[in-house]
Amino acid sequence: MDDAGVDGRRRDRPVADDDAIEPPTGFRERAVASDAGVYDAFATEGPDAWRRAADLLDWERPYERVLDDGDPPFYEWFPDGRLNAAVNCVDRHLDERRNQLAIRWFGKRGERRSYTYLDLHREVNALAAGLRELGVEEDDVVTLYLPMVPELPVAMLACARIGAPHNVVFAGLSAEALATRLDAADSSYLITCDGYYRREDAFNQKSKADNARLRADGDLAATVVVDRLGDALDVSLGADEHAYESLVDAHDGETVEPVARDATDLLFVMYTSGTTGRPKGVEHATGGYLAHVAWTTRNVLDVRPSDTYWCAADIGWITGHSYGVYGPLSVGTTTVLYEGSPDYPDRDRVWDLIERNAVSVFYTSPTAIRSFMKWGAEYPDRHDLSSIRLLGTVGESITPKAWRWYRDHVGGGEAPIVDTWWQTETGAIALATLPGITPMKPGRVGPPLPGIDARVVDEDGEPVDPGEPGYLTIGSPWPGMLRGLREGDERYRREYWVEAEDGWRYRTGDGATVDEDGYVTILGRVDDVINVRAQRFNTAELESAIVGVEGVTEAAVVGDDDGDVVAYVTTRSDVEPGEPLRTAIGEELAREVGDLARADRIVFTPDLPKTRSGKIMRRLLEDIARGEEFGDVSALRNPEVVGEIESAVRSE
Ligand code: WT7
Repeated sequence: MDDAGVDGRRRDRPVADDDAIEPPTGFRERAVASDAGVYDAFATEGPDAWRRAADLLDWERPYERVLDDGDPPFYEWFPDGRLNAAVNCVDRHLDERRNQLAIRWFGKRGERRSYTYLDLHREVNALAAGLRELGVEEDDVVTLYLPMVPELPVAMLACARIGAPHNVVFAGLSAEALATRLDAADSSYLITCDGYYRREDAFNQKSKADNARLRADGDLAATVVVDRLGDALDVSLGADEHAYESLVDAHDGETVEPVARDATDLLFVMYTSGTTGRPKGVEHATGGYLAHVAWTTRNVLDVRPSDTYWCAADIGWITGHSYGVYGPLSVGTTTVLYEGSPDYPDRDRVWDLIERNAVSVFYTSPTAIRSFMKWGAEYPDRHDLSSIRLLGTVGESITPKAWRWYRDHVGGGEAPIVDTWWQTETGAIALATLPGITPMKPGRVGPPLPGIDARVVDEDGEPVDPGEPGYLTIGSPWPGMLRGLREGDERYRREYWVEAEDGWRYRTGDGATVDEDGYVTILGRVDDVINVRAQRFNTAELESAIVGVEGVTEAAVVGDDDGDVVAYVTTRSDVEPGEPLRTAIGEELAREVGDLARADRIVFTPDLPKTRSGKIMRRLLEDIARGEEFGDVSALRNPEVVGEIESAVRSE
């Protein structure tokens, strides 16, 4: 039994419907992508076909070459072109729609703020000028540690304007995680805030940032602090700390000449969990990334300037970068930004916001949909959601049941759903149906997008038969792909690429099957990464935090069917496994990894199942957590623990 293999993966998980559902006629007639010829066009034109995407952008210096693949796997998209991402997301919309809303923000306390494209232009320029004054130069990495406030996209765009790559760290991550990311990204500028509301309470973010500063090896040249809480929390600023509001006020009305960047220059870095305990710094280049994101925002999410579009993901992760900020703003639409939680003040908050704003395209995760289902259809049913014309999901597999619920109760039984597969590394959507063209199959993500050479292969790189589990790989480069890792070329190559006879192949780390029609079903990760609450965690990262708790000897972490984190924990013989220990584990996870890293279920067990070489059998634990059948355990060093663990799970 090999923990990392796909062979033992259940083939029927998730159970997908084989009946294809045609795009509704009304939708098809008006869809951005309505010509099925696009699949053939990409297939015959090769990389050149991606001109369609690049031509959605404004170029400071037009590109002539589409792809430089002379030194694989170091690919360069649109290598001789120059552009600025902020110009593409803001300035170029001023002629046609300066008074159109760009961002409509809803705060936790019911506050609202709206930014037209003109407002956005003004604030981005003022902040860009302010950052310059603080010494930020082209190629300096600026770390952003902010919750879902408008200042976050403003800061991203201000950085982009002056050619300073941003490094957004999810606000819920710990001081330790921020310190690691500041150092790893070699970043000496930080933008954070005083704090933010969690439910009723004002939470001090600045003290977390201060803590990170103490823990980090490097020094910060300047910190900018957004005042989110006003009188609710007073933070004092040190000598090299600056209030965001004063900085922006001081430069209000100034314009900063946008820095033309090579298409291959770094737009941002985003840290994500990899196969080791240390996060990987995924680097995205300016031109290819923005082109791919803009093209998919239009062709997959079918977004037009006239839409009000809402991607519910936090900007602290890649989905929020690509489809909460760069995608919608590059195509000139109105994007909704929501700071709060979906069940506060009531469980209809999301539906209330959709109704209030006449949201036409809504993009969220299966985790969220599962919660909505649990809360009940009466909440969406209470609202007029007739503005919705397209729904999207991302982050994990959606069951056909959840798919149908989403369509019936949110999409009025009519709206097409795009199940979009991609990763931090792919930058943008890689597999999905084109909603006006491709039939949908609930539970299957769909075929690869035109131009994406995705294949499900076996250990030897040979395509598997329909229905057989294999590894999802991508056989040739695509524009949104990472340009490298912060950790260097060698790590990038080793982490993602295999050289095969027919060229280099990118390994996604996902197991998958493909059906006769070429529709891919994702089975889950084949490495030590788990997806929970639509986020990615490295199991070792969580386990080492748990083992850091006094009295804990070993821990193994898996995901269950509800997308929850289940931690199996063994303790020292003199330690009583009980409530205080559970609390201590929860606190340590929050401190070391972050808020999202809670263990939903903690199962105390006398031992963990191990192979003869001492490797913990995580897949077996996953099966037990999911209440599923599991195979032969005789290869274990300690098969007798399995029964004990099962009863521990049952008596939880
Ligand atoms: C992993 C990437 C960019 C998406 C947000 C998470 C899983 C993503 C799907 C989907 C089944 C999916 C994969 C992938 N995943 N989309 N539609 N169906 N699984 O980004 O943190 O980089 O995680 O999320 O396992 O490898 P991420």
